[in-house]
This record gives sequence, structure tokens and C-alpha cells, in this order.
Amino acid sequence: MIKKCLFPVAGYGTRFLPATKAMPKEMLPVVNKPLVQYGVEESIEAGLIDIGMVTGRGKRAIADHFDMNYELEHQISGSAKEEYLTSIRNVMHKADFSFTRQVEMRGLGDAILNGKRLIGDEPFGVVLSDDLCLTNGEDEGVMAQMVKLYKQFRCSIVAIQEVPDDLIHKFGVIDGEQIKDGLYQVNNMVEKPALEDAPSNLAIIGRYILTPDIFDIIEDTPPGKNGEVQITDALMTQAKNGCVLAYKFKGRRFDCGSVEGFVEATNYVFENIYQAG
Ligand code: G1P
Repeated sequence: MIKKCLFPVAGYGTRFLPATKAMPKEMLPVVNKPLVQYGVEESIEAGLIDIGMVTGRGKRAIADHFDMNYELEHQISGSAKEEYLTSIRNVMHKADFSFTRQVEMRGLGDAILNGKRLIGDEPFGVVLSDDLCLTNGEDEGVMAQMVKLYKQFRCSIVAIQEVPDDLIHKFGVIDGEQIKDGLYQVNNMVEKPALEDAPSNLAIIGRYILTPDIFDIIEDTPPGKNGEVQITDALMTQAKNGCVLAYKFKGRRFDCGSVEGFVEATNYVFENIYQAG
């Protein structure tokens, strides 16, 4: 069974300055809910209710968000405003949270390695909350789709999406053999390639399921692109030694790490979720 999910939330959010000077980027609200709560709700829906956060300096608001605020509870209790707390109360009721800090920013691979003590020797999910993934009412959340696949194949899985040529350099890119509709066995993976070096147009999106042997592999992975320890490189080693799958998920992804993507997500959520009730 897979129960744990890691959230690397130590990043600075420089693209949102000055908003993120004193506030974590993960707390920026998409309409009325912080970005990170969407990711946690997706994780809970998938049955991953042990949430591990790899935080850093200036990120205390995230821990506070998922903790009880007695003063607020007391003030609002019995009033008409109480319903505003429903979604966060649900999350706090269903999930457990643990936190560890990434002391140095040495890349996503390193951030995930920092979560080793929270995860132990079990398969686990990873959610990059900048990537807001939404499905229409008919499909399950992306993490739930991936957990289903994990139960069948028992190996690491990355979420992928086709991206246009001019965006390819922003992503990890895979190449693979299609084993069924929308599912590939990975045989190549490159972190943020130039277009001419990209093995395909299939880009990795911030949802992973990783088997725990990944921790030892990350420890042996030298810094790669931009001098950072890349999870993409560690996954490539795993793919060579065994199996890594890439899954073209059902749903929409918004790049909430960019102002444009964030505004797009806000409009979408306002029209399709908030106003729709
Ligand atoms: C990270 C990964 C990259 C992946 C991306 C998805 O990059 O390193 O492989 O495609 O997330 O959002 P980042 O955007 O954190 O630089």
C-alpha cells in the first residue's frame, strides 16, 4: 500500500516577487484556497494521507495553515462564516503532517532526499504544488490515477504531458516505448534540454510515484543541469536498472510557478469550481 506523499516546498518563488518576499509561494491563493492545499487535497483523494513537507526558511505559514488555529475557531464557531473553514478542517481531519527542512537549495533531487526520514522504506508520491492539476468531475485526481497504475506495475511513475516546442526547455523530457494507451516505459530522460536535444515532446509534470530505492540512487547522483541534483537523472538510473513508467494523465495542468499560468488557473477555478458552487 502507498500512504505517503512528499511536498518539496522550500523554493523561493522569485517569479512572484515582491508577493513572495515574506510569504511562501505555496500560500498564494488560487481564488480562496492556497496552492499547496489543492495539492494536499489531491493527495488525500488518492489515499496518500501521510503528508511530508520539505520546507525551508520563511515557510512557517505552510505549517500553520495545516495546524489548528484555536483563536480563529473560537471566534468563528457558530457564525455564518464557519463554512469558510470547511475545506481546511476536512484536510486537517483526514491527513497527518510532518515537516523537515532543506538547509541548502541543491535541487529537486536533493529536496526529495531530505524527505527520506519522513518516508522510510516505502513507495511514496511527490507533488510539486506549483503544478496545479485539475480534472473534470468525471475523472479522479491525477495522483489517484497514478496510484492505480502503481498498484498494477509496482515501479516509479512520472506524470507527463505533451508540450509545445518553445516550452520544452523548461521541463524534464522523456522518451519511451508505449506499452498501452497513454503509458510509456521510459528509456531516456533529459532535464531541461534545448529543443534540438529533446528526445520527444513529452514533458514531466510535477507528480511522481517513487519506489524507495530512489534515495540511494539520489545519494549517488552527481549534480546535473544548473549544478543541481536532479530527480530526472536519478530516475534515469532507475529506468536503466529496472523500470520507470511515464503516464499521460487525464486532466489539465496549470503552471502556477508563472504569473501567466497562475492567472489562467485563477480564472479557470473561479468560473468552473468557485462559481459552480
Ligand atoms: C521540475 C523538474 C522537471 C519537471 C518540472 C515540472 O523542474 O526538475 O523535470 O519537468 O519540475 O514542473 P522545476 O520546474 O522545479 O525547475
